[in-house]
Amino acid sequence: MTADTELLERRKHVLRGLRLYYDAPFHPVRGEGVWVFDENGRRFLDAYNNVPHVGHSHPHVVAALCRQAGMLNTNTRYLFEPIVEYAERLVATMPAGLDAVMFACTGSEANDLAWRMARNFTGRSGVITTHNGYHGNTTFLDSIDGSSIKANRPTPDWWVTVPAPADGLEPSSHAATSPRRTRPSAGARRPGRRRAPWTIDTGRRGRHRGARCPVRCR
Ligand SMILES: Cc1ncc(COP(=O)(O)O)c(C=O)c1O
Repeated sequence: MTADTELLERRKHVLRGLRLYYDAPFHPVRGEGVWVFDENGRRFLDAYNNVPHVGHSHPHVVAALCRQAGMLNTNTRYLFEPIVEYAERLVATMPAGLDAVMFACTGSEANDLAWRMARNFTGRSGVITTHNGYHGNTTFLDSIDGSSIKANRPTPDWWVTVPAPADGLEPSSHAATSPRRTRPSAGARRPGRRRAPWTIDTGRRGRHRGARCPVRCR
């Protein structure tokens, strides 16, 4: 039994509700800048793994994380200078008018919060998303998950999908096969059902199945 096979077996017991990407699951052990390395030291260009926007193991980020972890783990409901200072620094990078900050820990939280803000601001509850888009794992975001269309799950009348920019590349896309979903239903045009947020996932979900990504460089 190889180390990967053994790890897969252990994973099956405790993470069986979660899926793995790729036919041969990718097993990175560390990252540095734009690169990730597997257990044999093979280097891959990380063109997909969502989280590290400034690269893997960025020394500035690692030092800041360690500094904060050694100081205090707190939240925005207490008065804490580094949170205020961080918000000020973010606002300083924004155009005029974008001058207040809310913090969230995950993309799901941020998207859910954005939806609540859009609903409060517009007084509307409808949503437009791109086909096959994934927006996170809260109950609301799951209800507008592109995979529910593929699975023919009933979709709420306040949800309309439009083609993603990449849809044009694939003739079998949902845009080509089901144009009715690009038009709001009568119910969706009722007051209170009109669109509030429009979320765009420019990538497309499900591409990884059967693929042998990421790009291996050496
Ligand atoms: C396009 C997109 N939106 C939202 C999310 C949700 O982010 P999180 O996993 O941090 O909740 C993801 C995560 O993969 C994503 O790819």
